[in-house]
Amino acid sequence: MWILSLTKLGIKGLDDILNQIYRGSIILVAGNPGTGKTTIGAKFLYEGLRQFNENGLYLSFVETKKDFYRNMLNLGMNFESYEKDNRFKYIEAVTVTDINALIDLLQEVLNMIDKLNAKRLVVDSISAVMQMGDKDEGKIRELMHNFFYRGPKLKEVTTILIAELPYGKKSVGYGIEEFITDGVVILKSKIIKRKLIRLMEIRKMRGNEISVGEVPFIIGSPDIISFRVPPNINAIPSGISPTKEYVELKIGTNKIPFAPGTQNMFIANPSIDPLPFISTFIIPTLLVKGYKIVYRSYFHGEKTIRDRIGKCLEYYPRNYQQLISNLSIRNLNPSSKSIIDIEMTAESIERHEKPDIVIVEGLGTYMDLVSDMETYKEEHYNNLIRRAANSITGFYFIHELEENMMKIPLINVYDSIFYLNIKDKNLVLKSIRNHLKVVPLDPIEIDARNVESCFMV
Ligand SMILES: Nc1ncnc2c1ncn2[C@@H]1O[C@H](COP(=O)(O)OP(=O)(O)O)[C@@H](O)[C@H]1O
Ligand SMILES: [Mg+2]
Repeated sequence: MWILSLTKLGIKGLDDILNQIYRGSIILVAGNPGTGKTTIGAKFLYEGLRQFNENGLYLSFVETKKDFYRNMLNLGMNFESYEKDNRFKYIEAVTVTDINALIDLLQEVLNMIDKLNAKRLVVDSISAVMQMGDKDEGKIRELMHNFFYRGPKLKEVTTILIAELPYGKKSVGYGIEEFITDGVVILKSKIIKRKLIRLMEIRKMRGNEISVGEVPFIIGSPDIISFRVPPNINAIPSGISPTKEYVELKIGTNKIPFAPGTQNMFIANPSIDPLPFISTFIIPTLLVKGYKIVYRSYFHGEKTIRDRIGKCLEYYPRNYQQLISNLSIRNLNPSSKSIIDIEMTAESIERHEKPDIVIVEGLGTYMDLVSDMETYKEEHYNNLIRRAANSITGFYFIHELEENMMKIPLINVYDSIFYLNIKDKNLVLKSIRNHLKVVPLDPIEIDARNVESCFMV
C-alpha cells in the first residue's frame, strides 16, 4: 500500500488552517508583485532547515543570490550557515532564458535534490519559466511535468511553485493549476482606509476541507510571516478552579485577586492619567512576585513610561535591575498600521515574550484612530480570548465618563470592570463588575498624593 507521509510548512497559523500537507505536494503560490511570494517560499525552506531537518533548494529565475540573501537576512532569515553545511542551495538561474539551457538546468536540479537529500523545493517562478517557451508553451509544460514527476513527486520533495500574477489579473493560466498542483493559494494586498492589508485566498488544497475565505497575514518580525487563526473559545481555562495562582493586586490596604487569564477593564475618568496608578499599584507588586509583564500604551511614549515606572521601582534598589528586566514596553502606533496588523503584531510579540500579564493603556486613543470599529471588535476580541486561553491576565485602561461606560466596545467581554474617579483629593476605585461574583467589591479610596509619590500603602 502507498502511504503518504505528512509534513508541516512551519508557517505560523498556516499549518493550523492547512492541517494536512503530504510530502511531495506541489503548492502553487500566486500573487501580484510584492504580495509576499518569495517571503513565504523562503520561510517554508527556512523552517524546514531549522525545525524539521528537511534540506531545501531555492531555484530562482528572477532574483540574484546576493539580493535574496540580503532581503531574507533583513527579515531575520540567515541561509548562509545552512549553505555551508550543505543543507541548502540557492540556484541562481536568472540567465537561463531558452529551452536548451532550461533542460540542462532541470537535470542539474534533479541531481542537486539527490546530492542534498532535499525534501523542500521552491521554484520562483513558473511564470518566468513559461516565458521561455515563446510560441511553444506546450513544450515547456511537458518539460515541467516531466521534471515534477521524475523529481519532487517521485522523491517526495514538497514544493512551493511561485506564479507571478500581473497587476489586475486574477488567474494564473498556463494550464499549471489544473494539472500538477495539489494546492493553489493566491496572495493579495489591499489598501483599505489608507492601510495595507495582506490576504491569502485558498483556492484548492488536497486533503483539506477549507472553510475559510481569505486569511489575513502579516510580514515582519518576529515571525517573518504569520497567518491569523481565530482562537478556540473552549480553550479558556476554568475561572472556578484555576490551575495557576491568583494574580493579586494590592491597592492601598486592599488586596484584589484576579483569576489568571481574566481580562480586566479599568475605566478612568478623563481627568485622570492612569499611568501613575498603574506604576504605583500594579507593576511593582507584580514584578516583585516574579511575573513577566508586557506593557503597551497607545498614548504615552516609552521614555515617559519607563521613567514613571522606574521612579516607583526605586523603592526596590537592590532588585531594581532584575525587576525591570521582566517588564517590556511594546508600544504600537495605531495610525501607521491596519487593525489586523496591530492585533497580529501584538499576538506575535506576546507569543515570543510569553508574559504572565499584559497591560494595555490608552485603548481609547487606539479606537479614536482606527476607522473600522467592526474589524477592531473582531480582532481585539480574538486577542482577549487568546490571552485568556494562554492564562495571560490582561489589564486594560481606557478614558470614559462613568455614564458612557456601556458604550465602550466589547465592554461585555471583560471579566471585571472598575471605574477610577477622583473625589476631593482621593482616588476612588469602584468595582462595577467582579469576575464570578454576584456583588461587586466595595469602593476603595486612596490619597492621590500617595499615588503621585508611588507610595504603595
Ligand atoms: N522587514 C520587513 N518587514 C515588513 N515587511 C517587509 C519587510 N521586508 C519586506 N517586506 C515586505 O514584504 C513584501 C515583499 O514580499 P516578496 O516576498 O518579495 O514579494 P513577491 O515575491 O510576491 O514579489 C513587500 O511588500 C515588502 O514591503
Ligand atoms: Mg518575489
